[in-house]
Amino acid sequence: MSLRERSATDRVLAARQRYVAAGVATPELVVDRAVGAHVWDVDGREYIDFAGGLGCQNTGHGLPTAVAAIHEQVDRYLHQCFMVGMYEPYVEVCRRLAELSPCRGDEQKSLLVNSGAEAIENAVKIARAATGRPAVVVFDRAFHGRTLLSMTMTSKVVPYKRGFGPFAPEIYRAPAPYPYRGVTSDDAIHGLESLFKGDVDPQSVACVVLEPVQGEGGFIPMPDDFPRRLKELCDHYGILYVDDEVQSGIGRTGPVWAIERYGVQPDLVVSGKSLGGGLPLAAVTGPAEIVDSVPPGGLGGTFGGNPVACAAALAVLDEVATDGFRLRAEAIGDRLRGALDGIAGRVDAVGEVRGLGPMLALELVENRATKEPAAALATKTTTAARDRGLILLSCGLYGNVIRILVPLVISDEDLDRGLEILEEALVEGAQRAD
Ligand SMILES: Cc1ncc(COP(=O)(O)O)c(C=O)c1O
Repeated sequence: MSLRERSATDRVLAARQRYVAAGVATPELVVDRAVGAHVWDVDGREYIDFAGGLGCQNTGHGLPTAVAAIHEQVDRYLHQCFMVGMYEPYVEVCRRLAELSPCRGDEQKSLLVNSGAEAIENAVKIARAATGRPAVVVFDRAFHGRTLLSMTMTSKVVPYKRGFGPFAPEIYRAPAPYPYRGVTSDDAIHGLESLFKGDVDPQSVACVVLEPVQGEGGFIPMPDDFPRRLKELCDHYGILYVDDEVQSGIGRTGPVWAIERYGVQPDLVVSGKSLGGGLPLAAVTGPAEIVDSVPPGGLGGTFGGNPVACAAALAVLDEVATDGFRLRAEAIGDRLRGALDGIAGRVDAVGEVRGLGPMLALELVENRATKEPAAALATKTTTAARDRGLILLSCGLYGNVIRILVPLVISDEDLDRGLEILEEALVEGAQRAD
Protein backbone atom coordinates (compact mmCIF):
# COMPACT_ATOMS: atom_id res chain seq x y z
CA MET A 1 0.00 0.00 0.00
CA SER A 2 1.43 3.40 -0.95
CA LEU A 3 1.74 6.28 1.50
CA ARG A 4 -0.90 8.19 -0.43
CA GLU A 5 -3.39 5.33 -0.12
CA ARG A 6 -2.91 5.21 3.62
CA SER A 7 -3.59 8.93 4.09
CA ALA A 8 -6.43 10.04 6.34
CA THR A 9 -7.95 11.86 3.36
CA ASP A 10 -8.16 8.64 1.36
CA ARG A 11 -9.64 6.73 4.30
CA VAL A 12 -12.46 9.29 4.65
CA LEU A 13 -12.94 9.53 0.87
CA ALA A 14 -13.39 5.76 0.68
CA ALA A 15 -15.94 5.79 3.50
CA ARG A 16 -17.70 8.75 1.92
CA GLN A 17 -17.89 6.80 -1.33
CA ARG A 18 -19.41 3.84 0.46
CA TYR A 19 -21.90 5.56 2.79
CA VAL A 20 -22.78 9.08 1.56
CA ALA A 21 -25.34 9.77 -1.17
CA ALA A 22 -23.67 10.32 -4.52
CA GLY A 23 -26.01 13.28 -5.20
CA VAL A 24 -24.03 15.42 -2.76
CA ALA A 25 -21.08 16.65 -4.86
CA THR A 26 -17.85 16.69 -2.85
CA PRO A 27 -14.27 17.72 -3.55
CA GLU A 28 -11.22 15.74 -2.45
CA LEU A 29 -10.81 17.83 0.67
CA VAL A 30 -11.40 16.46 4.15
CA VAL A 31 -11.28 19.21 6.73
CA ASP A 32 -9.75 18.82 10.16
CA ARG A 33 -9.92 22.39 11.49
CA ALA A 34 -10.31 25.99 10.39
CA VAL A 35 -9.47 29.43 11.79
CA GLY A 36 -10.07 32.83 10.17
CA ALA A 37 -9.29 32.34 6.48
CA HIS A 38 -7.26 29.13 6.96
CA VAL A 39 -8.32 25.50 6.73
CA TRP A 40 -6.26 22.39 7.54
CA ASP A 41 -7.09 18.96 6.16
CA VAL A 42 -6.90 15.65 8.03
CA ASP A 43 -3.40 15.07 6.63
CA GLY A 44 -2.14 18.38 8.04
CA ARG A 45 -2.10 20.29 4.73
CA GLU A 46 -2.89 23.99 5.11
CA TYR A 47 -5.14 25.93 2.73
CA ILE A 48 -6.02 29.56 2.22
CA ASP A 49 -9.79 29.64 2.07
CA PHE A 50 -11.44 31.59 -0.76
CA ALA A 51 -14.76 29.74 -0.28
CA GLY A 52 -15.74 30.23 3.36
CA GLY A 53 -17.86 27.09 3.52
CA LEU A 54 -19.84 28.45 0.53
CA GLY A 55 -20.21 32.00 1.74
CA CYS A 56 -20.98 31.20 5.37
CA GLN A 57 -17.84 32.63 6.94
CA ASN A 58 -17.92 36.33 6.13
CA THR A 59 -16.67 36.96 9.68
CA GLY A 60 -14.07 34.18 9.44
CA HIS A 61 -13.94 30.61 10.71
CA GLY A 62 -14.39 30.63 14.48
CA LEU A 63 -15.23 34.31 15.07
CA PRO A 64 -14.06 34.50 18.72
CA THR A 65 -17.13 36.39 20.01
CA ALA A 66 -19.44 33.88 18.28
CA VAL A 67 -17.49 30.90 19.63
CA ALA A 68 -17.67 32.32 23.18
CA ALA A 69 -21.42 32.97 22.82
CA ILE A 70 -21.92 29.44 21.48
CA HIS A 71 -20.06 27.91 24.43
CA GLU A 72 -22.14 29.89 26.88
CA GLN A 73 -25.39 28.94 25.17
CA VAL A 74 -24.42 25.26 24.94
CA ASP A 75 -24.09 25.15 28.72
CA ARG A 76 -27.56 26.67 29.20
CA TYR A 77 -29.75 24.69 26.77
CA LEU A 78 -29.43 23.46 23.20
CA HIS A 79 -33.00 23.40 22.01
CA GLN A 80 -36.48 24.33 23.10
CA CYS A 81 -38.47 24.79 19.88
CA PHE A 82 -39.62 28.39 19.85
CA MET A 83 -43.22 27.17 19.58
CA VAL A 84 -42.88 25.20 22.82
CA GLY A 85 -40.75 27.44 25.01
CA MET A 86 -39.69 30.90 23.85
CA TYR A 87 -36.13 32.06 24.44
CA GLU A 88 -34.45 35.42 24.31
CA PRO A 89 -31.70 34.75 21.72
CA TYR A 90 -34.39 34.25 19.03
CA VAL A 91 -36.14 37.49 20.00
CA GLU A 92 -32.81 39.33 20.13
CA VAL A 93 -31.80 38.18 16.63
CA CYS A 94 -35.15 39.48 15.34
CA ARG A 95 -34.56 42.76 17.18
CA ARG A 96 -31.10 43.13 15.61
CA LEU A 97 -32.43 42.23 12.16
CA ALA A 98 -35.14 44.88 12.62
CA GLU A 99 -32.47 47.49 13.43
CA LEU A 100 -30.39 46.51 10.42
CA SER A 101 -33.20 45.78 7.94
CA PRO A 102 -32.96 47.46 4.54
CA CYS A 103 -36.73 47.14 4.03
CA ARG A 104 -39.27 49.95 3.94
CA GLY A 105 -41.28 50.72 7.05
CA ASP A 106 -40.43 51.54 10.67
CA GLU A 107 -41.64 48.43 12.42
CA GLN A 108 -39.72 45.38 11.18
CA LYS A 109 -40.31 41.77 12.19
CA SER A 110 -38.57 38.48 11.36
CA LEU A 111 -39.12 34.75 11.11
CA LEU A 112 -36.10 32.51 11.79
CA VAL A 113 -35.59 29.20 9.99
CA ASN A 114 -32.77 26.76 9.23
CA SER A 115 -31.67 27.33 5.65
CA GLY A 116 -31.78 29.78 2.79
CA ALA A 117 -34.21 27.59 0.84
CA GLU A 118 -36.55 27.39 3.81
CA ALA A 119 -36.40 31.16 4.21
CA ILE A 120 -37.18 31.68 0.51
CA GLU A 121 -40.17 29.33 0.78
CA ASN A 122 -41.42 31.29 3.76
CA ALA A 123 -40.89 34.65 2.03
CA VAL A 124 -43.16 33.38 -0.75
CA LYS A 125 -45.75 32.16 1.77
CA ILE A 126 -45.72 35.55 3.47
CA ALA A 127 -45.94 37.44 0.17
CA ARG A 128 -48.88 35.28 -0.94
CA ALA A 129 -50.66 35.75 2.39
CA ALA A 130 -50.03 39.51 2.33
CA THR A 131 -51.24 40.06 -1.23
CA GLY A 132 -53.77 37.26 -1.67
CA ARG A 133 -52.04 36.53 -5.01
CA PRO A 134 -50.49 33.24 -6.16
CA ALA A 135 -47.80 34.02 -8.75
CA VAL A 136 -44.07 34.55 -8.21
CA VAL A 137 -41.65 36.10 -10.70
CA VAL A 138 -38.01 35.01 -10.66
CA PHE A 139 -35.15 35.70 -13.04
CA ASP A 140 -32.76 34.02 -15.44
CA ARG A 141 -29.75 32.49 -13.65
CA ALA A 142 -31.43 32.75 -10.23
CA PHE A 143 -30.48 30.40 -7.44
CA HIS A 144 -32.90 30.22 -4.53
CA GLY A 145 -32.37 26.70 -3.17
CA ARG A 146 -33.03 23.00 -3.65
CA THR A 147 -36.41 22.34 -2.00
CA LEU A 148 -39.38 21.87 -4.32
CA LEU A 149 -40.51 25.51 -4.46
CA SER A 150 -37.04 27.05 -4.26
CA MET A 151 -35.71 24.54 -6.85
CA THR A 152 -38.55 25.55 -9.17
CA MET A 153 -37.46 29.15 -8.66
CA THR A 154 -33.85 28.22 -9.40
CA SER A 155 -32.61 28.52 -12.97
CA LYS A 156 -30.22 25.71 -13.82
CA VAL A 157 -31.44 22.38 -15.13
CA VAL A 158 -28.35 20.25 -14.46
CA PRO A 159 -27.72 19.45 -11.66
CA TYR A 160 -30.52 21.24 -9.80
CA LYS A 161 -33.69 20.29 -11.70
CA ARG A 162 -33.22 17.36 -14.07
CA GLY A 163 -35.35 14.42 -13.01
CA PHE A 164 -36.93 16.23 -10.07
CA GLY A 165 -40.23 17.45 -11.58
CA PRO A 166 -43.10 18.06 -11.56
CA PHE A 167 -42.26 21.52 -10.34
CA ALA A 168 -44.27 23.95 -8.24
CA PRO A 169 -46.93 25.94 -10.14
CA GLU A 170 -47.21 29.72 -10.58
CA ILE A 171 -43.49 30.44 -10.97
CA TYR A 172 -42.67 32.73 -13.93
CA ARG A 173 -39.22 33.66 -15.17
CA ALA A 174 -38.09 37.01 -16.56
CA PRO A 175 -34.74 38.02 -18.06
CA ALA A 176 -32.16 39.51 -15.70
CA PRO A 177 -29.53 42.00 -16.81
CA TYR A 178 -26.19 40.47 -17.79
CA PRO A 179 -24.23 43.31 -19.40
CA TYR A 180 -21.24 41.12 -20.30
CA ARG A 181 -23.50 39.01 -22.51
CA GLY A 182 -25.50 41.90 -23.88
CA VAL A 183 -28.60 41.86 -21.66
CA THR A 184 -29.18 45.41 -20.43
CA SER A 185 -31.52 46.76 -17.76
CA ASP A 186 -33.76 47.98 -20.59
CA ASP A 187 -33.91 44.46 -22.06
CA ALA A 188 -34.75 42.98 -18.68
CA ILE A 189 -37.49 45.53 -17.95
CA HIS A 190 -38.96 44.97 -21.43
CA GLY A 191 -38.79 41.22 -20.84
CA LEU A 192 -40.72 41.61 -17.59
CA GLU A 193 -43.32 43.81 -19.27
CA SER A 194 -43.78 41.24 -22.02
CA LEU A 195 -44.07 38.47 -19.38
CA PHE A 196 -46.91 40.54 -17.90
CA LYS A 197 -48.52 40.82 -21.35
CA GLY A 198 -48.09 37.24 -22.49
CA ASP A 199 -47.81 34.89 -19.54
CA VAL A 200 -48.99 36.20 -16.22
CA ASP A 201 -51.36 38.95 -15.13
CA PRO A 202 -49.31 41.33 -12.96
CA GLN A 203 -52.41 41.67 -10.75
CA SER A 204 -51.97 38.01 -9.79
CA VAL A 205 -48.26 38.31 -8.92
CA ALA A 206 -47.49 38.24 -5.19
CA CYS A 207 -43.79 38.97 -5.42
CA VAL A 208 -40.64 39.16 -7.48
CA VAL A 209 -37.54 37.54 -5.95
CA LEU A 210 -34.12 38.83 -6.99
CA GLU A 211 -30.53 38.47 -5.81
CA PRO A 212 -28.81 41.88 -6.02
CA VAL A 213 -25.67 40.00 -7.01
CA GLN A 214 -26.62 36.69 -8.60
CA GLY A 215 -24.55 34.10 -6.76
CA GLU A 216 -24.62 30.57 -8.15
CA GLY A 217 -25.75 32.10 -11.45
CA GLY A 218 -22.32 33.65 -12.00
CA PHE A 219 -21.66 36.53 -9.55
CA ILE A 220 -23.54 39.00 -11.73
CA PRO A 221 -24.24 42.28 -9.94
CA MET A 222 -27.42 44.00 -11.02
CA PRO A 223 -26.69 47.24 -12.89
CA ASP A 224 -27.14 50.39 -10.77
CA ASP A 225 -30.57 51.26 -12.15
CA PHE A 226 -32.21 47.83 -12.30
CA PRO A 227 -33.38 47.23 -8.71
CA ARG A 228 -34.89 50.74 -8.61
CA ARG A 229 -36.72 50.28 -11.91
CA LEU A 230 -37.93 46.86 -10.83
CA LYS A 231 -39.18 48.30 -7.53
CA GLU A 232 -41.07 51.03 -9.41
CA LEU A 233 -42.79 48.39 -11.57
CA CYS A 234 -43.58 46.36 -8.45
CA ASP A 235 -45.08 49.38 -6.71
CA HIS A 236 -47.15 50.15 -9.80
CA TYR A 237 -48.73 46.69 -9.78
CA GLY A 238 -48.86 46.10 -6.01
CA ILE A 239 -46.21 43.37 -6.22
CA LEU A 240 -43.82 42.79 -3.30
CA TYR A 241 -40.06 43.01 -3.92
CA VAL A 242 -38.25 40.16 -2.15
CA ASP A 243 -34.52 40.76 -1.86
CA ASP A 244 -32.64 37.42 -1.69
CA GLU A 245 -29.47 38.25 0.24
CA VAL A 246 -28.67 34.71 1.33
CA GLN A 247 -25.28 34.94 -0.42
CA SER A 248 -24.79 38.70 -0.89
CA GLY A 249 -25.89 39.77 2.61
CA ILE A 250 -24.33 39.82 6.09
CA GLY A 251 -21.48 41.99 4.91
CA ARG A 252 -20.43 39.99 1.84
CA THR A 253 -20.19 43.10 -0.37
CA GLY A 254 -19.13 45.48 2.46
CA PRO A 255 -22.43 46.91 3.78
CA VAL A 256 -24.64 44.50 5.72
CA TRP A 257 -26.93 44.16 2.65
CA ALA A 258 -25.89 44.50 -0.99
CA ILE A 259 -29.19 46.25 -1.75
CA GLU A 260 -27.97 49.21 0.34
CA ARG A 261 -25.66 49.98 -2.55
CA TYR A 262 -28.68 50.51 -4.82
CA GLY A 263 -30.71 52.87 -2.64
CA VAL A 264 -33.78 50.62 -2.88
CA GLN A 265 -35.95 49.58 0.04
CA PRO A 266 -37.30 46.08 -0.61
CA ASP A 267 -40.49 44.73 0.93
CA LEU A 268 -38.87 41.60 2.36
CA VAL A 269 -35.23 40.59 2.79
CA VAL A 270 -34.06 36.99 3.03
CA SER A 271 -30.79 36.20 4.81
CA GLY A 272 -28.91 32.99 5.62
CA LYS A 273 -25.43 31.52 5.11
CA SER A 274 -23.09 33.82 7.13
CA LEU A 275 -25.91 34.89 9.49
CA GLY A 276 -25.22 32.00 11.90
CA GLY A 277 -21.43 32.32 11.71
CA GLY A 278 -21.27 28.68 10.57
CA LEU A 279 -24.39 27.38 12.32
CA PRO A 280 -27.61 26.86 10.34
CA LEU A 281 -29.78 29.96 10.56
CA ALA A 282 -31.77 31.97 8.02
CA ALA A 283 -34.36 34.70 8.25
CA VAL A 284 -37.17 36.53 6.51
CA THR A 285 -37.41 40.17 7.58
CA GLY A 286 -39.83 42.91 6.60
CA PRO A 287 -42.46 45.39 7.73
CA ALA A 288 -44.88 44.12 10.40
CA GLU A 289 -47.88 44.79 8.15
CA ILE A 290 -46.52 42.26 5.64
CA VAL A 291 -44.88 39.71 7.95
CA ASP A 292 -47.92 39.62 10.26
CA SER A 293 -50.25 38.74 7.37
CA VAL A 294 -49.74 35.12 8.38
CA PRO A 295 -51.75 34.17 11.47
CA PRO A 296 -50.20 32.22 14.40
CA GLY A 297 -49.29 28.67 13.44
CA GLY A 298 -48.78 29.48 9.75
CA LEU A 299 -45.03 29.89 10.12
CA GLY A 300 -42.43 28.03 12.17
CA GLY A 301 -40.67 24.69 12.40
CA THR A 302 -39.10 22.42 14.99
CA PHE A 303 -35.55 23.73 14.84
CA GLY A 304 -35.98 27.17 13.23
CA GLY A 305 -34.05 29.81 15.17
CA ASN A 306 -32.09 27.29 17.24
CA PRO A 307 -30.77 29.06 20.36
CA VAL A 308 -27.11 28.16 19.76
CA ALA A 309 -27.31 29.44 16.17
CA CYS A 310 -29.03 32.60 17.46
CA ALA A 311 -26.28 33.18 20.05
CA ALA A 312 -23.71 32.99 17.24
CA ALA A 313 -25.80 35.24 14.98
CA LEU A 314 -25.92 37.99 17.60
CA ALA A 315 -22.12 38.08 17.62
CA VAL A 316 -21.99 38.00 13.80
CA LEU A 317 -24.52 40.83 13.43
CA ASP A 318 -22.62 42.95 15.97
CA GLU A 319 -19.46 42.39 13.96
CA VAL A 320 -20.78 43.06 10.45
CA ALA A 321 -22.60 46.21 11.59
CA THR A 322 -19.31 47.90 12.60
CA ASP A 323 -17.59 50.51 10.44
CA GLY A 324 -14.36 48.56 10.92
CA PHE A 325 -15.79 45.44 9.29
CA ARG A 326 -17.22 47.39 6.38
CA LEU A 327 -14.01 49.34 5.79
CA ARG A 328 -11.90 46.18 5.88
CA ALA A 329 -14.32 44.42 3.51
CA GLU A 330 -14.09 47.33 1.10
CA ALA A 331 -10.30 47.38 1.34
CA ILE A 332 -10.23 43.64 0.61
CA GLY A 333 -12.55 44.33 -2.34
CA ASP A 334 -10.22 47.01 -3.73
CA ARG A 335 -7.15 44.80 -3.34
CA LEU A 336 -8.91 41.85 -4.94
CA ARG A 337 -10.25 43.94 -7.81
CA GLY A 338 -6.80 45.35 -8.58
CA ALA A 339 -5.22 41.90 -8.54
CA LEU A 340 -7.98 40.28 -10.62
CA ASP A 341 -7.76 43.08 -13.19
CA GLY A 342 -4.02 42.36 -13.32
CA ILE A 343 -4.71 38.65 -13.91
CA ALA A 344 -7.21 39.56 -16.65
CA GLY A 345 -4.46 41.59 -18.31
CA ARG A 346 -2.14 38.57 -18.38
CA VAL A 347 -4.48 35.61 -18.93
CA ASP A 348 -6.53 35.63 -22.14
CA ALA A 349 -9.11 33.22 -20.80
CA VAL A 350 -10.47 35.87 -18.41
CA GLY A 351 -13.44 37.42 -20.19
CA GLU A 352 -14.61 39.67 -17.38
CA VAL A 353 -13.80 40.64 -13.81
CA ARG A 354 -16.99 41.61 -12.00
CA GLY A 355 -18.74 41.87 -8.67
CA LEU A 356 -19.51 44.23 -5.84
CA GLY A 357 -17.00 45.09 -3.11
CA PRO A 358 -15.16 41.89 -2.20
CA MET A 359 -17.85 39.65 -3.80
CA LEU A 360 -15.86 39.22 -7.00
CA ALA A 361 -15.45 36.74 -9.82
CA LEU A 362 -13.68 35.97 -13.06
CA GLU A 363 -15.76 34.77 -16.01
CA LEU A 364 -13.63 32.40 -18.09
CA VAL A 365 -14.07 32.12 -21.84
CA GLU A 366 -12.49 30.13 -24.65
CA ASN A 367 -12.13 33.26 -26.71
CA ARG A 368 -12.70 36.90 -25.76
CA ALA A 369 -14.45 37.67 -29.03
CA THR A 370 -16.90 34.75 -29.11
CA LYS A 371 -17.20 34.55 -25.29
CA GLU A 372 -17.76 30.80 -25.43
CA PRO A 373 -17.87 29.68 -21.77
CA ALA A 374 -14.72 27.83 -20.61
CA ALA A 375 -16.27 25.47 -18.05
CA ALA A 376 -13.54 22.82 -18.23
CA LEU A 377 -10.93 25.48 -17.47
CA ALA A 378 -12.86 26.58 -14.37
CA THR A 379 -12.90 22.99 -13.09
CA LYS A 380 -9.19 22.51 -13.83
CA THR A 381 -8.42 25.80 -12.09
CA THR A 382 -10.26 24.94 -8.87
CA THR A 383 -8.57 21.52 -8.79
CA ALA A 384 -5.10 22.94 -9.49
CA ALA A 385 -5.71 25.61 -6.83
CA ARG A 386 -6.58 23.00 -4.23
CA ASP A 387 -3.45 21.02 -5.06
CA ARG A 388 -1.48 24.24 -4.39
CA GLY A 389 -3.26 25.06 -1.12
CA LEU A 390 -6.14 27.33 -2.12
CA ILE A 391 -9.83 26.48 -1.72
CA LEU A 392 -11.66 28.00 -4.66
CA LEU A 393 -15.18 27.63 -6.09
CA SER A 394 -16.72 27.98 -9.50
CA CYS A 395 -20.28 28.99 -10.37
CA GLY A 396 -22.37 30.18 -13.31
CA LEU A 397 -25.01 28.67 -15.56
CA TYR A 398 -22.15 27.17 -17.60
CA GLY A 399 -19.88 26.56 -14.60
CA ASN A 400 -17.26 28.88 -16.13
CA VAL A 401 -17.02 31.51 -13.40
CA ILE A 402 -14.43 31.49 -10.61
CA ARG A 403 -15.94 33.19 -7.56
CA ILE A 404 -14.31 34.52 -4.46
CA LEU A 405 -16.09 34.18 -1.12
CA VAL A 406 -13.06 34.76 1.07
CA PRO A 407 -13.65 35.27 4.81
CA LEU A 408 -13.43 39.03 5.26
CA VAL A 409 -10.92 38.72 8.08
CA ILE A 410 -8.10 37.61 5.77
CA SER A 411 -4.72 39.37 6.02
CA ASP A 412 -3.28 41.21 3.00
CA GLU A 413 -0.44 38.69 2.93
CA ASP A 414 -2.77 35.69 2.71
CA LEU A 415 -4.96 37.45 0.19
CA ASP A 416 -1.96 38.14 -2.04
CA ARG A 417 -0.71 34.57 -1.67
CA GLY A 418 -4.19 33.22 -2.53
CA LEU A 419 -4.33 35.41 -5.62
CA GLU A 420 -0.89 34.23 -6.71
CA ILE A 421 -2.07 30.62 -6.41
CA LEU A 422 -5.24 31.49 -8.31
CA GLU A 423 -3.22 32.84 -11.20
CA GLU A 424 -0.82 29.88 -11.18
CA ALA A 425 -3.78 27.50 -11.16
CA LEU A 426 -5.45 29.36 -14.00
CA VAL A 427 -2.30 29.24 -16.12
CA GLU A 428 -1.79 25.56 -15.30
CA GLY A 429 -5.47 24.87 -16.09
CA ALA A 430 -5.17 26.67 -19.43
CA GLN A 431 -2.09 24.59 -20.29
CA ARG A 432 -3.85 21.38 -19.28
CA ALA A 433 -6.88 22.41 -21.33
CA ASP A 434 -4.77 22.69 -24.47
C1 LIG B 1 -29.01 33.54 -3.23
C2 LIG B 1 -29.31 32.24 -2.56
N1 LIG B 1 -30.55 32.00 -2.13
C3 LIG B 1 -30.87 30.84 -1.51
C4 LIG B 1 -29.92 29.87 -1.30
C5 LIG B 1 -30.30 28.58 -0.61
O1 LIG B 1 -29.69 28.52 0.65
P1 LIG B 1 -29.47 27.12 1.38
O2 LIG B 1 -28.44 26.36 0.63
O3 LIG B 1 -29.06 27.51 2.77
O4 LIG B 1 -30.80 26.43 1.37
C6 LIG B 1 -28.61 30.09 -1.72
C7 LIG B 1 -27.57 29.06 -1.54
O5 LIG B 1 -26.52 29.07 -2.12
C8 LIG B 1 -28.30 31.31 -2.37
O6 LIG B 1 -27.05 31.56 -2.82
